[in-house]
Amino acid sequence: MPVQATIAGIASPQDLQRALSGAQYLAGEDLATAAYLALALGKPLLLEGAPGVGKTEAAKAIGSVLARQVIRLQCYEGIDAAAALYEWNYPRQMLAIRQAGEAYVNVYSDDYLLARPLLEALRAPDQSLLLIDEIDRSDHEFEAFLLEFLSDFTISIPETGTVRAARAPVVVLTSNRTRDLHEALRRRCVYHWIDYPDPALEAAIVMARASTVAQATADAVVASVNLMRAEPLTKPPGVAETVEWAEAATLLNSQGHPWPLAFRQAIGVVLKDQDDLTYMAPRLDAILPAEVA
Ligand SMILES: Nc1ncnc2c1ncn2[C@@H]1O[C@H](COP(=O)(O)OP(=O)(O)OP(=O)(O)O)[C@@H](O)[C@H]1O
Ligand SMILES: [Mg+2]
Repeated sequence: MPVQATIAGIASPQDLQRALSGAQYLAGEDLATAAYLALALGKPLLLEGAPGVGKTEAAKAIGSVLARQVIRLQCYEGIDAAAALYEWNYPRQMLAIRQAGEAYVNVYSDDYLLARPLLEALRAPDQSLLLIDEIDRSDHEFEAFLLEFLSDFTISIPETGTVRAARAPVVVLTSNRTRDLHEALRRRCVYHWIDYPDPALEAAIVMARASTVAQATADAVVASVNLMRAEPLTKPPGVAETVEWAEAATLLNSQGHPWPLAFRQAIGVVLKDQDDLTYMAPRLDAILPAEVA
């Protein structure tokens, strides 16, 4: 695969970072660089990170700045090749056979094929962005199958022939790292670990995503969330929780609930586990922002 320095008008990591922020996704320089290199080298981008750090959203934002249709394959335990590639529409086939009576009907044609995300991505009229989300939830066998798909981007359908993409899709894989991925898969990709954003970036994300929130509230919420993340919680808050907590507390405050009570009342937006709530209850006073301008 030849190196392509400019993709859809994006000629550097800085270009990509700017374009992403135009799409409301604020990427750190390291993420923008990894994503730019993956695009330039024509390799899949593998994003790993804790839940809620912005992996899925990063893929969608990249699709949006490249003006590519985003086709998502959501992985889950037990997912198999059929669910990822295609299935035959049996009820429709049976109906057609019944209606045809004595006449011949070819029920192995496109009319009876249900395209699943991988086939959809190959068939898309323009280059698409294929998001393989939460690949760590699938098993090793499915991962090996994906590796093969990513090496040739063809699907062979015995009844109708081989489908090949006019242009291989841009591929982004995400993993929450609930298990380690194969060495072979990693080798094929450009890898980036997304960390929680630093406080300034996270406050900027809150401001970009939640239009009603004041800067001081965003800063205060980010500081508190970072203190929570340092605690041994089962479900540490992700970036979405930070944004929503700021929004929810702002709403309550606008309805007359004073600070910091508004933060405490909106706690269900940020802590979503009974054990975490119990653990944090006696510690909340020390963590909640006392005063917000
Ligand atoms: N860098 C960012 N810029 C803007 N918004 C962000 C950013 N990171 C996260 N977000 C916000 O956080 C939300 C959650 O992110 P996302 O769903 O992508 O996380 P994830 O890493 O895929 O989580 P999970 O592992 O639970 O699937 C997004 O919908 C978005 O609102
Ligand atoms: Mg996700």
